[in-house]
Amino acid sequence: MVDASVSPRPRSASASPVSAAEVAATRQPTSRAHLLPPRVFHDPEVFAYEQDAWYGGGWVSVGREEDALAPGQYFLAPRAGETFIVVRGADGVLRAFYNVCRHRGATLVEEPCGTVPRFQCPYHAWVFDLAGRLRTPRHTELLEGFDPAEWGLVEARLATWQGIVYLDLSGAAPPLEDYLGDLPPHFVRFDLAALRRAGRIDYDVAANWKALVENYLECYHCPGVHPQLNKITPYDMGQYLPWQGPFCGSFMDVLPEYETLSLSGAAAGRPPIPGMTAADRHRVYYFAIWPNQLLSLHPDYLMLHWLTPLEPGRTIVRCEWFFDPVEMTKAEFDPSDAIEFWDLTNRQDWSVCELQQRGTKSRAYTPGRYSAIESSVHGFDLMVADRYAADGVITPQERIAKQASSEAVKARARAMARGKAAD
Ligand code: FES
Ligand SMILES: [Fe+2]
Repeated sequence: MVDASVSPRPRSASASPVSAAEVAATRQPTSRAHLLPPRVFHDPEVFAYEQDAWYGGGWVSVGREEDALAPGQYFLAPRAGETFIVVRGADGVLRAFYNVCRHRGATLVEEPCGTVPRFQCPYHAWVFDLAGRLRTPRHTELLEGFDPAEWGLVEARLATWQGIVYLDLSGAAPPLEDYLGDLPPHFVRFDLAALRRAGRIDYDVAANWKALVENYLECYHCPGVHPQLNKITPYDMGQYLPWQGPFCGSFMDVLPEYETLSLSGAAAGRPPIPGMTAADRHRVYYFAIWPNQLLSLHPDYLMLHWLTPLEPGRTIVRCEWFFDPVEMTKAEFDPSDAIEFWDLTNRQDWSVCELQQRGTKSRAYTPGRYSAIESSVHGFDLMVADRYAADGVITPQERIAKQASSEAVKARARAMARGKAAD
């Protein structure tokens, strides 16, 4: 067993570098609020605080369980400036370890994924089994007070939800399902853990991670930035979902003449994934889960983004696409239309986020205002602002009716049908 006495050194509880006064203008009703102060996108001190207190704190998503299904199968997960080994033990238990040898501290594993019988340090060859236990190393027999059982890998607390792996580096967060609030009920009709990845693209984006989340949470920019997306899910046709927890959720309506978000708008023969209701089949759900996960559920596939902040102005974004494994076995299965659609859309988004990153450095920029269809952005910014302020206040959000209701969707569809009939 990994000895509990080797829990990570407690981190110094660094004070927030952003005061309550500095974010007071954000912590207002949406109709009066201002966007976050620009320095939170650029200041290395703010970035270091976020990495330590947020990414180095409670539950944060790091990957998918499907990448460590068999005994010995592992993947490296980046988090808070270091990496973790997520590995399936010989006993079938999924565990996470700090990727650090207990001898002289060398990085233990460099290959990003694989299947191994054990971990052997490349420096002096100390060997740890899949449960993190140290085998008695050479030339340690005569050491005084050295018990190999006390020198196993340092374990990080791990839990999964819908096949997504979360780590709690604080070791003190509430159980994951409690922490996620009312997020799980939004997905009880699905088994997202059963889906399998058909594509992955990593992007290196010159923008702060918070700018990327803000961008994800609104479609105000869609008519100009995403003509292809806006044609299938018009920017003003969707609704916010109620939320009580560390996330923001909404859906957008797929126009009746399309099936999904893909270059053609067709699902290429893919049926809706199991669990989809009649209403789900004409929607795309968007959830931003604090702090770094973007979960987009389409009628026929799931897309996940993981944001890994590297610097105040640099973020690695991993985007992955998941499909029903039954469909994936079919000869005609071809996910490329969906992947290429989102690769295009992703790049369109990164481009404008990079513009924001550059522009908010200007001496002339003062925090702007939220439009009536950016309520979700404000919801996320309130999570950020409340955490900076660290005064125990959770700012309630005034929910502006964002977008047209499904009634408006139907009205638009009827109007389009009339237009076609008149042609
Ligand atoms: S640093 Fe790993 S065995 Fe020496
Ligand atoms: Fe976008």
